[in-house]
This record gives sequence, C-alpha cells and structure tokens, in this order.
Amino acid sequence: MSRIAYVNGQYVPMADAAVHVEDRGYQFADGVYEVIAVSGGVMVDAEPHLVRLDRSLSELQIEAPMSSAALSHVINEVIRRNLVRNGIIYLQVTRGVSRRDHAFPANVRPALVITARNQKSSDMAATGGIEIVTVPDNRWDRCDIKSVSLLPNILAKQTAKEAGAYEAWFVEADGMVTEGSSTNAWIVDTDGNLVTRKLSNSILPGITRQTVQDLASELQIKIIERSFTVEEAKAASEAFITSTTALVMPIRKIDGTEIGSGAPGPVALRLRSHYADHMAQFRERA
Ligand code: PDD
Repeated sequence: MSRIAYVNGQYVPMADAAVHVEDRGYQFADGVYEVIAVSGGVMVDAEPHLVRLDRSLSELQIEAPMSSAALSHVINEVIRRNLVRNGIIYLQVTRGVSRRDHAFPANVRPALVITARNQKSSDMAATGGIEIVTVPDNRWDRCDIKSVSLLPNILAKQTAKEAGAYEAWFVEADGMVTEGSSTNAWIVDTDGNLVTRKLSNSILPGITRQTVQDLASELQIKIIERSFTVEEAKAASEAFITSTTALVMPIRKIDGTEIGSGAPGPVALRLRSHYADHMAQFRERA
C-alpha cells in the first residue's frame, strides 16, 4: 500500500507529494510543526497539540490554515488512509509560497502538509535505559516556538548518534540543562521529587511533559520546576526524558557517568507505565 500525504487540500500518494520550490518553509524554515502520537488509530492528546500549534503560528504571525476542528478531521483522514494503528502524525504549516524576499509577503495562504506512519514502540530502549551526551545550547531564544528551524537540534542528535547515545541534552554556558534535542529533561532528586525546568523561552512546552506532571500529581509525587546542572543530573537518583515519541524514557548514563544504579529507575518506570495507560485511554474511548 502506498502512503498518502495531505498537501494543501489534496490527499496524494507519497511519490507525488511535493511543495513548491518557493515555499518559505523550504527557503527560510519559515514554518512550524507538530508531532502527535497515534494509539490504536486515535490521536493522543490532540487538543493540547493543536492549541500549541495555534500558539506557535500566532507567535510568528502565520495565519492558521483552517480551524482546529477542520484540522482534526483532516488528520483523522490521513490516519485512516494510511492505516496507522500505532505511530505518529507529522504536521507542518509554513507561511506559504512567494517570490524569495525576507520580509513577510502580502496575501499568501499558509501551506499545510500532513503525513502519518506506523512506528515501533520505544519499549526496547526503555528496558535497558538510554545514554545521553551533552552539547552547548547554541539555539536562538525562542525555543518555546515549535519551529521547523531545527539545525542545532539535528546537529546535536547527530553528535549523540555518533557517540552511540539516544539523545543530546543542550547545556547553557552556566552549566544548566535546558532540554534534549527533541525531548524534555528530568531528574529525580535524592528525596524522590521530580525536577524539571520551568517553562520559558528556553524550552519547548512539551505536551508529554504536561501529561507526566498531571500523572505525577495523581500519584502524589512532588514536582519541583527549576533548572539543574549536568553535575546535579549525574548525581541524581534517576534521570529521564519525555516526548511524544520517547514517552517516558529512563536514562542509564550521562556523558559516560552511570545514573543511580545504572539501570532504569523505579520512578521513571512507574511514570512510563502510567503514561502507557494514559495512551490506552484514547483507543478505549474511540
Ligand atoms: N519533539 N523539546 C524539543 C526541542 C522537542 O522537539 C520536543 C518534541 C519536545 C517534547 O515535546 P512533546 O512532549 O510535545 O513531544 C521537547 C518532537 C517529538 C519531534 O521533533 O519529533
């Protein structure tokens, strides 16, 4: 079966799915995106993802291509046409197509592309725990916007891959961890409290981060929102990352230093299991 993409109003086979050479996403990375998990054919946490999309768009003064309700309808159609059961949808909105000129063009329509695919679960990686390397945070100061401008992120991920690690954590000049190249960063302190950085322009407001905070509150695990250093993370009881694709992923090593016992910690595994239940609720409700 050929995969189908939604491109500016049409459902087209992947081989024919193309955008214009003067799409501003292609020329300037002038666009935003979302990645939403699909569980049993149903979107997980669709609403907060679409709210975040609207915010990213409005921060960049890009017009929404359609209402959230219409967008949900199109996404569900892409899921259906691609027979996606467990996987992800990728959605990208750019400012549109116009003759190359840095300033915003007048009267352009935003360009919308949506793809979907089945994806293997991350359970294997979670069983052993993952390794992290750290890299300087050389990004701009609006990391709260989910922009397609991801060069520092892909370079960081490549550094991790070449080191045999799963993820790279960005670290500021003062030693504070901001987040991963495509994940949010967490530690468990020696009192068993969760520690994760406060929302600001320095990190993406992760949807998984929010859900894990809600689950932790239900489990009466205390959450402290503050920055932490790499040294503190190395000495923590546990460390983990969260994202739409990694869910809750325990960390075994940071820059070669074993975290806790060097195996996935109980708090991260407990949160991962509750997160799996959270995902299951969407398919059960469908
Ligand atoms: N990445 N921080 C960054 C820089 C991210 O790119 C992401 C998501 C996250 C976690 O956000 P969420 O929990 O909403 O997925 C944090 C997606 C998955 C990606 O780029 O593929």
